[in-house]
Amino acid sequence: MYQNIKKYIYKLDPETAHNLIEKSLYFLGEYLPYLLKPMSEKFSYEDRMLEQKILGMTFQNPVGLAAGFDKNASMLPALKALGFGFVEFGTVTPRPQEGNPKPRLFRYPKYNSIQNAMGFNNEGLEEVKSNLLKHYSLNMPIAANIGKNRTSKDKKIVEDYEVLIDGFKDISDFLVINLSSPNTPGLRDLQSKQFIEELFCMAQEKTDKPLFLKIAPDLDIVDVFEICHVAIENGAKGIVATNTTTDYSLLPGAQNFGGISGEVLCEKSFELFEALAQEFFTKTVLVSVGGISSAEEVYRRLKAGASLVELYSALIFEGPSVTKNINCDLLELMKKDGFKDISEVIGIDRK
Ligand SMILES: Cc1cc2nc3c(=O)[nH]c(=O)nc-3n(C[C@H](O)[C@H](O)[C@H](O)COP(=O)(O)O)c2cc1C
Repeated sequence: MYQNIKKYIYKLDPETAHNLIEKSLYFLGEYLPYLLKPMSEKFSYEDRMLEQKILGMTFQNPVGLAAGFDKNASMLPALKALGFGFVEFGTVTPRPQEGNPKPRLFRYPKYNSIQNAMGFNNEGLEEVKSNLLKHYSLNMPIAANIGKNRTSKDKKIVEDYEVLIDGFKDISDFLVINLSSPNTPGLRDLQSKQFIEELFCMAQEKTDKPLFLKIAPDLDIVDVFEICHVAIENGAKGIVATNTTTDYSLLPGAQNFGGISGEVLCEKSFELFEALAQEFFTKTVLVSVGGISSAEEVYRRLKAGASLVELYSALIFEGPSVTKNINCDLLELMKKDGFKDISEVIGIDRK
């Protein structure tokens, strides 16, 4: 059915389509909550074999929604009903900001890929907090993805993250520090040893909630190792790899700005993830994201060492059944190979 609806959605420009879906999912959670149960029955898939406890949180399945879809934490109850095991909302900045000039979102259906140059458009900490307060906690782990305002420079940068950690530490389950978006000038340059040390030192004093670092796929692997080591030494409990890529050669007809996600990112993201897992499996929680759209790909990432995975682009191309299809097929793959629990799969290729 979604393949038919998609034809109409694709007639709208991508950002208008996103705004329409956002408003619908918000409306559903806010004004028609009695529809969430039937929605969950249709789109969720539960099985004890897929459930795991990580850092004190219970994940009913390993498939989370990546940051950027629910920038303002306005759709959480509906996203839970779509069967996600967890949701990362944001990126949220301290003050509201409009993001980059439009058009800034492009879809490439032939390649099941997206290019975006949104630039952290969001309603800001106070507004997002009030959205979140209505629904937290949701019986599903919620991560706050946080980033600096575009105009914040020098000392103000760490202060931005400080304010955001203070704001979200009691109304989210874990926090993801985003230094990897290509759409805020200078942000990716903060993926340096010195800055990460300063940032995580400050962060771990602010909260006991688990702190994760989200990294870009375009970093040199030596730099990845260095910054992840520093982050972990200074209290990071997990790494989310990866954000979108600025390797425009991957996508025929790509714009020469913004970041690319979806199918064309899959191998690049996996390659970096596998190298990361060879170094850090068992030393930290690894979350793999980038081009994931099938149970086979989730299985590959779990075996490589991911405890959890996330997706964004596949929700656009596959529609609301994406998590159910993945979880259902994943269970079949596990049973076929004789696994009795997801914990047996995680990192099997590293053992
Ligand atoms: C339109 C769009 C907006 C995004 N915004 C954010 C963001 O605000 N913060 C962030 O950390 N990642 C953001 N991302 C990156 C995703 O979280 C994810 O890392 C990336 O899309 C790769 O996953 P995918 O191939 O499954 O889409 C965005 C991605 C897209 C497509």
